[in-house]
Amino acid sequence: MTRKLHIKTYGCQMNVYDSARMADVLAPLGYVAAETADDADMVILNTCHIREKAAEKVFSELGRLRALQNRKARRGGRMILAVAGCVAQAEGAEILARAPHVDIVLGPQTYHRLPEMVAAATRAAGGVLDTEFPAEAKFDFLPEASATRSAAALLTIQEGCDKFCTFCVVPYTRGAEFSRPAADVIAEARRLIGHGAREITLLGQNVNAYHGAAPDGGDWGLAQLIRALADLPGLERIRYMTSHPRDMDAALIAVHRDVAALMPLLHLPVQSGSDRMLAAMNRGHTVADYRRTVEALRQARADLAFSSDFIVGYPGESEADFQATLDLMQGVGFAQAYSFKYSPRPGTPAASEPDQVPEPIKSERLARLQELLQSQQRAFNLSLVGSVQRVLLERPGRHPGQLAGRSPFLQPVHAWLDAGLVGAIVPLRIVGVEPNSLAGEALVEAAERISA
Ligand code: 5AD
Ligand code: SF4
Repeated sequence: MTRKLHIKTYGCQMNVYDSARMADVLAPLGYVAAETADDADMVILNTCHIREKAAEKVFSELGRLRALQNRKARRGGRMILAVAGCVAQAEGAEILARAPHVDIVLGPQTYHRLPEMVAAATRAAGGVLDTEFPAEAKFDFLPEASATRSAAALLTIQEGCDKFCTFCVVPYTRGAEFSRPAADVIAEARRLIGHGAREITLLGQNVNAYHGAAPDGGDWGLAQLIRALADLPGLERIRYMTSHPRDMDAALIAVHRDVAALMPLLHLPVQSGSDRMLAAMNRGHTVADYRRTVEALRQARADLAFSSDFIVGYPGESEADFQATLDLMQGVGFAQAYSFKYSPRPGTPAASEPDQVPEPIKSERLARLQELLQSQQRAFNLSLVGSVQRVLLERPGRHPGQLAGRSPFLQPVHAWLDAGLVGAIVPLRIVGVEPNSLAGEALVEAAERISA
C-alpha cells in the first residue's frame, strides 16, 4: 500500500539533506513523496530556528494544516502531522501543548526512529515527542541514502557545533560537534556517484572542524577527506559549507591549491568587520586574522571567490563598528553573501544583552550593507561575461528548450541546450548577466554568431 508523504523544508542545506533522509526512512513503510500537503497521509515540517519568529511561522503553518487534516478525517482518512528540525528541538513540549493536532515532534538527532514514532502515533491518541540526543549516532541507523537522481548532491559529514557564538542557537539545537567516519562518507559518496552525481557538497554546521575516524585508524581532517574524495572516479566537483574562519588550517588551504575538483567559491562567514563585535560574539578571531586567511587562500588559488554571512545590529554595535564591516567588505570583495539583522534567539547569551540595537537602525544598516553587497556581486558576475565557464547542467530551465545549472562559482546559469545534456558538465560562453542568473551559450553557437 502506498501512502503520500509531503515534507516542507525550511532553512539550511542540512535540513534539505535531512528531509531526504526522512523520506528514505519512511519509504519501507510505503510512503512516497507528494508535491503538496493536500490529501497527504503524512506531512512533516522540517523547521529552522536560526533567525526570526521561526516558531510563530511553524504555528501558523500548523493552523493551515489542521484544516487539511480535518478534511481528510471527514473522508475517513488520517493525516499524520510531524514537526521536525530545530524548532522541534527547541520547543518540543510547547508545540504539543499549543497544537494538539500534531502527532509527532522529533529533533534532528532522532530521524532514524521515525518508523517507531509513526507506529506509536498510529496506535496512540496524543502526540509522540522525541527530542533526545541519543547515545547512538543516527547515521549508523539511517538506511543507505536512496540518492534521488541529482547531478549535484548533498552529503552531511558533520553535525552540531562547539563554537558557541553568542548569537547562535545551533550548539543548543544540534548539540555537540560530531563527525561521521571517513569510510562512511566515502561509501555514501560512491553511492551518490553511482546514481549520477557529478558534484557533491559536503555539509556541516561547522564543516571545516571535521575530524572523522580515518579508514586506517586515527583521524582525518576535512583536508584529507577531500583529497580522498577527489580520487573517486566520476566525481568532478567538490564543495563544502559552512566553515568557521578559525578552522581554516594550512592543510585545508593547501587543498584549495592542489585539488582541481574543489570548486573556487568558498563560503567563509565573518559576521562583522569590527574586532569589538567579533570578540563580543565569541568568534575567536580578529579582522586581521580573517584577512590573512583570505590572503593565504588567494595565494593558494588565484581564482578563488568568497561568500560570507554578515550580521548587522548585534547588541552594542555602533555606527563605527558597522562602518568597519563595510570596510572589510570593500577590502575583501565578495562574489556573494548572506546578510541578516541580528535576531535575539531565546536561550543564547546575546539575547539578554542590555544594549539591543533598535529595529529601524538595524534595517537601515542592512539596506546599506546589501547595497554594497549587490554592487560587488554584480561586478563579479559582469567580470565573467565573455569568459567560458564549465556549467553542471542540473535541470530543465524556466522556459521550454532551456537547461539550468551552476557555474564553478555557484552562479545559476541558463542556456538553450538539448535536454539530453542534463547531468553533463558543459563549457558555456557567458553572454549576459540577469538579476539572479547568468545567460550562457554553447560554444558552437557563440562561434557561429561571431563568424556570421
Ligand atoms: N541573528 C541573525 N543572524 C544569525 N545567524 C545565526 N544566528 C543569528 C541570529 N541570532 C546567521 C549567521 C550565520 C548564519 C547561518 O545565520 O550569519 O552564519
Ligand atoms: Fe552557530 Fe556557526 Fe557559531 Fe557554530 S560557528 S555557534 S553554527 S554561527
